[in-house]
Amino acid sequence: MVLLKEKLEELEYKGEKKDIKIGIIGAGYVGLVTSVGLSYKGYDVLVFEKNKEKLSLLKKGISPFYEPDLHRFLTSALNSGRLKFIDEVSQIIKECKYIYICVGTPIKEDQTYDMFFLDLAAKEIANHLPTNERKIIIIKSTVPPGTARWFQKIIYRYRRGKKTNIEVASIPEFLREGNAIYDFFNPNRIIIGIDNKEIVDDLRQIYHDFPSPIIIVSTIEAELIKLASNTFLATKISFINSISDICEQLGCDIENVRMGIGLDHRIGLDFLKPGIGFGGSCLPKDLNAIISLFKEKQIDPVLFEAVKKINNDRINLLLNKIKKALWNVKGKNITIWGISFKAGTDDIRESPTLKLIPMLLKEGANLILYDPKATNNFKNQYPQYSVNTSIKITENIYESVVNSNLIVITNDWEDYKKVNFSKIYELMETPIIIDGRNILDHALISEHGFEYYRIGVNHESS
Ligand code: UGA
Repeated sequence: MVLLKEKLEELEYKGEKKDIKIGIIGAGYVGLVTSVGLSYKGYDVLVFEKNKEKLSLLKKGISPFYEPDLHRFLTSALNSGRLKFIDEVSQIIKECKYIYICVGTPIKEDQTYDMFFLDLAAKEIANHLPTNERKIIIIKSTVPPGTARWFQKIIYRYRRGKKTNIEVASIPEFLREGNAIYDFFNPNRIIIGIDNKEIVDDLRQIYHDFPSPIIIVSTIEAELIKLASNTFLATKISFINSISDICEQLGCDIENVRMGIGLDHRIGLDFLKPGIGFGGSCLPKDLNAIISLFKEKQIDPVLFEAVKKINNDRINLLLNKIKKALWNVKGKNITIWGISFKAGTDDIRESPTLKLIPMLLKEGANLILYDPKATNNFKNQYPQYSVNTSIKITENIYESVVNSNLIVITNDWEDYKKVNFSKIYELMETPIIIDGRNILDHALISEHGFEYYRIGVNHESS
């Protein structure tokens, strides 16, 4: 049965205990959500995390990153005794029949995936594998097509001829940050990539009580499905961003045009919101990876190069809007609402705001930054900005606009809609808002007296 989002808080750890032990290597985003999700489903889950700091937080039930509902699920999982965090990977390899690989695959300078942690995991598995015992290894990390087959080969290599009984499967993860727990329990589809039909039933057993269609494909197809899905989402966003540019020139409102396009069921309204470009750790990375893959196979990646270029240009467009609205940027106080790459997360990886900050500093602006969750991450990862006298970081949205000349909204937290705009208006020196995500109600904001600019609308003709 599909779980309604509003019913998420009613989920409790009362499900039947299943007599299967699952091991997870890597407690990053995917690993941690998979761990708490599977333990909720009744499995005994052992999780290995190599980062000692992270591990000690996890043992205390503290998530190293913000994700709605995760804390509650993590606490219940630990209290139920079905979830354990450990610092010995060998225990997982010895005790668990199913081993999920959830290690990071960051992108390298040459825009290909760094397979270092996967290689390390293969070596650990090979070193501790009990002879003859059947193990099913499931790759969850986002990887280039062909990885599962490589992984199996590498384990055999490290085994140096010792008896080995493993099968490597690829079950890509499609959860979104900010919706991860909900997405774990309600995937649109479950893709099981296998090259040996004998393990279909073993894997179906794990996923039988999810409310989602299961599709059985080869490992390489599963890996390509993941890469192509993210690339398609990126393409949809760059498509609507391009249409929003022509809307501005023609005097159209992108919101009307978007509705007219997206209500065609073949197109759909999801992932059709214009803005200042996609960020995060996945869409930009997978787009780069598919471009590299096409080049490697000598196929022209013209479509994906265009998607990337359109996305990269979004930030210049935003800068031009700011310059145009302010007339002179030097010495102005600019408030930025949004540090994380989107609402619902404190993740700042590839956030458009990170590109905007140096551009505005170069123009001579003073910046005041606010985000409901990401200020700490920002301070920790960019300590140089904490000591820059042209930047102030605040936890209070009203404080962020005192004497401000312009607010620029760069991510889409619902919190921004709930503020008292009369108060915001009073606190600003010149009440101008540039809404880079089109999230505010423009009629309401204009009624308050703000000069309000959105994406995909020609303000000179409206
Ligand atoms: C993405 C995919 O949506 C997940 O299915 C996938 O599992 C995940 O990558 C991954 O590979 O791990 P995520 O990176 O969490 O998830 O974020 P998205 O919700 O996809 O948003 C990505 C970016 O696109 C954000 O900057 C967002 O603001 C932007 N976006 C999204 C738009 O500009 N317009 C839209 O209509 C939707």
